[in-house]
Amino acid sequence: MAQQQQRLGTLVFYSDFDDFGAWQKALQAQLPDLKVVHSSALERPEDVHYAMVWKPPEGFFQQMPNLRLIVNLGAGVDALVSRSDLPAGIPITRITDPNMSRMMAGYVLFAVLRHARDIPHFEQAQRRGEWAYRHPRSPEEIAVAVLGLGHLGAMAASEVQRQGFRTLGWSRSQRLIEGVECFSGIETLDTVLGQADIVVLMLPLTPHTKGLFDRARLERLRPGAAFVNVARGALVDQAALTALLQSGHIGSATLDVFEREPLPADDPLWGIPQVLITPHLASVAIPSSSARQIAANILRVAEGEEPMDVVDPGRGY
Ligand SMILES: NC(=O)c1ccc[n+]([C@@H]2O[C@H](COP(=O)([O-])OP(=O)(O)OC[C@H]3O[C@@H](n4cnc5c(N)ncnc54)[C@H](OP(=O)(O)O)[C@@H]3O)[C@@H](O)[C@H]2O)c1
Repeated sequence: MAQQQQRLGTLVFYSDFDDFGAWQKALQAQLPDLKVVHSSALERPEDVHYAMVWKPPEGFFQQMPNLRLIVNLGAGVDALVSRSDLPAGIPITRITDPNMSRMMAGYVLFAVLRHARDIPHFEQAQRRGEWAYRHPRSPEEIAVAVLGLGHLGAMAASEVQRQGFRTLGWSRSQRLIEGVECFSGIETLDTVLGQADIVVLMLPLTPHTKGLFDRARLERLRPGAAFVNVARGALVDQAALTALLQSGHIGSATLDVFEREPLPADDPLWGIPQVLITPHLASVAIPSSSARQIAANILRVAEGEEPMDVVDPGRGY
């Protein structure tokens, strides 16, 4: 055991959001010989071969000369890859767990159905004590655009399609998803937006996607369209989105992510009745199921192989 621990070395954990105990238990169930230590209790930084982190402090990695792998504790790597203190040549992996994709697909489906079934209209009518009948539209009359068709977006698009909605997908490279009309490249974005009744953002935050949904682009949405953002707040000009919701050009929104989080108490978005706000929880990393993928990567690295699901820092995702 001591020999194997020596072989696998130590994994150091840092996150202010995630439950260390749950991750330690899940990782050690997969790799009993891996030493899993919280960064606050780390005594021998030279033994650390793996770092599993969510927003660690500046200079975190510098004390670990034998680091071999950085595991981003989540699907979105924007906060990590934009740092200037990353050690050169150390692979970064992220969590890609089917259960995490399912959790996200569930949220997206909920948001799409909320808009497709005019729930914001009924919620407001209820507050007024009004029986405000609005005849339901059938799903095939409603077009849903899922922007970003990665691990999370592809499953969400398939779930939306399974409900009978006309489903459009958009990504950087051309994708093929059964039943989904797939588009790729910036030159097709406005065409996709112009056809959609419900737009769902599932893109990573990169230098190419930051601010992509500025006022001009948001104005290309169909009048009355619904807007769902489960990706990152910085993809969108939030002031422009707010103004377009207030004017009614954008009919309703379900927002899980914001330019500033927590969303400040005086932000005008809180007061717009047709907006649903959730505090960045559309999907979270699940220790019991994600540990398998992380353990497999640790074993690969321990054997001198390349890990899977490596992030390309140049590409930003
Ligand atoms: N709200 C939450 O709770 C929560 C939880 C987890 C993740 N997230 C967010 O969800 C994002 C997506 O996650 P994921 O795992 O699905 O990511 P992913 O597997 O890396 O997929 C990203 C998708 O976006 C596309 N894309 C990237 N840059 C693009 C560009 N410039 N133009 C067009 N398409 C572009 C990619 O195109 P290609 O297919 O051509 O590569 C791919 O389809 C994460 O980055 C994170 O920010 C949010």
